[in-house]
Amino acid sequence: MAIGAGVVWCLVLGVAVYATRIRPDPHEEAVGWRLILWGGVVFPTVVLAALLVFGLGLMPQLREPGEGLRIDVSGEQFWWRVTYRPADGPAVVSANEIRVPVGERVEFGLTSPDVIHAFWIPALGGKVDMIPGRENRLVLKAEKPGTYRGACTEFCGASHALMAFDVVAIEKAAFSAWLAAQATPPSPPEGEAARGRELFLRHGCGACHRVAGTEAAGEVGPDLTRFGARATLGAATLANTPDNIARFVRETGALKPRAKMPAYPNLPGEELAAIAAYLGSLK
Ligand code: CUA
Repeated sequence: MAIGAGVVWCLVLGVAVYATRIRPDPHEEAVGWRLILWGGVVFPTVVLAALLVFGLGLMPQLREPGEGLRIDVSGEQFWWRVTYRPADGPAVVSANEIRVPVGERVEFGLTSPDVIHAFWIPALGGKVDMIPGRENRLVLKAEKPGTYRGACTEFCGASHALMAFDVVAIEKAAFSAWLAAQATPPSPPEGEAARGRELFLRHGCGACHRVAGTEAAGEVGPDLTRFGARATLGAATLANTPDNIARFVRETGALKPRAKMPAYPNLPGEELAAIAAYLGSLK
């Protein structure tokens, strides 16, 4: 496509130079009509038809099924629900960060429970709408390890611009080990983090958030079982640091307008610090 577009660009530029510099006589009507017929009708028809045939030939590749691993992603106002469905083994729920094995065709099932969002990882391809009531499929392959930025590309409300995610591509063996480890809940917290867990449960965070291995089993908001292992928070809008966790809990609406989560402006600083310590310990 890029090579085809490059050739067309050169030809158009050549014709423009010819018409304005080499034979700029506006009174030569016969030449003008020939340019319109060949340059304006025949040429674009042939070029667009050729690109269409070429593009249609590539489409079956996009529809080939993945190689075992399937990841369901649901776009929600304003974050991403991620469910890994390995061919063998239990499903694993997470949010806002997607891990994929390098060199494997991963199949994504894309949907939404509220409004239309769109799933796009520019470096890997895609850009597929997430539509309530239906599921769209997308197969992607990361060729190299690394972190790839993804974003919502369909206007979905006040925090549309604050709805991003990271795709972390790691080697296949490391990925399999990581996915298998997700089946066991993280080890119980100690010290300040243990107090943070108590506060987290007492303040009712578990009504919306799930942390496997505790009574927090909410499904309204992002799953926090491995929150501490993510590089970012707030759907890839802030670095995952204790200060940012405390800020996000204290002033949610300021950082993420129209998010469903209420702000907790009256929590004492030391309680926020303990909750941040707990969430950061969930790895
Ligand atoms: Cu979700 Cu825009």
